[in-house]
Amino acid sequence: MSLPEFIDESVAYLKEQDIPENPEAAVILGSGLGSFGKSISDPLFINYEDIPHFPSTSVKGHDGRLISGTVNGKNIIAFSGRFHHYEGYDFEETAIPVYIAKALGVNKLIISNAAGAINTDFEVGDLMVIDSVMRHNKSISPMGYPQHRYNHYPLADKARKLAAGLGLAVQRGTYIYVTGPNYESKAEIRAFRKMGADAVGMSTAPELFEAARLRLKSVAISLISNMASGVTRDKLDHEEVKIAAESRKEDFAKLVSKLILEL
Ligand code: 6GU
Repeated sequence: MSLPEFIDESVAYLKEQDIPENPEAAVILGSGLGSFGKSISDPLFINYEDIPHFPSTSVKGHDGRLISGTVNGKNIIAFSGRFHHYEGYDFEETAIPVYIAKALGVNKLIISNAAGAINTDFEVGDLMVIDSVMRHNKSISPMGYPQHRYNHYPLADKARKLAAGLGLAVQRGTYIYVTGPNYESKAEIRAFRKMGADAVGMSTAPELFEAARLRLKSVAISLISNMASGVTRDKLDHEEVKIAAESRKEDFAKLVSKLILEL
């Protein structure tokens, strides 16, 4: 159950900042979902650039700080801004939030992302609980160990039931991980659909795999920010991601708060 050694200094620094011990949950906030930070009471902000060994983020729509505080009276930490392989980080670096969560004794991890819909029944603004993950190229092995053993998400069902209890309709499906940074061609999306993928994105898989390896209870949720290429005629752009996130940010916050309490 080993954690990379470099994490020790990062964790020591965080502990000096008086972040709570054994937080109930850690939340990784995807593109445009940083507004969840506003749901955190008594927040303490720690900039990534001040944490030893943390890379700095560069993606639009991503913040770069850790927030600790409470949600529904539970201590949590949130990572507002994440790391992507296409930014030049290796897979291990992209999973840093997972290692920090594990080292701090977090009970459960909630991962979010913005993804493109491959499933033609999906709509922009849908929330999808991820129940399995595939890679577009199986020679891309984020962590160099057999992922099939870790590709099982028993909490997906529970998350969906909790969403239904809140009156939120959520999708569930397979997330296909691509390294990016470019979006896919129409032909690639058609192929991914035939393979059984429902949504596509450039994050989350390395974090989920590492969380599973470390036996950290986790669930991942995609916000459908746009339809993937060829699904509609619209061109893809970063504005869409922002608009979709804006329209669902309250539902997303409600769902994440519920998962923190009851998952
Ligand atoms: Cl369409 N593709 C990829 N790779 N990532 C995305 C996306 C599409 N939409 C949001 N993120």
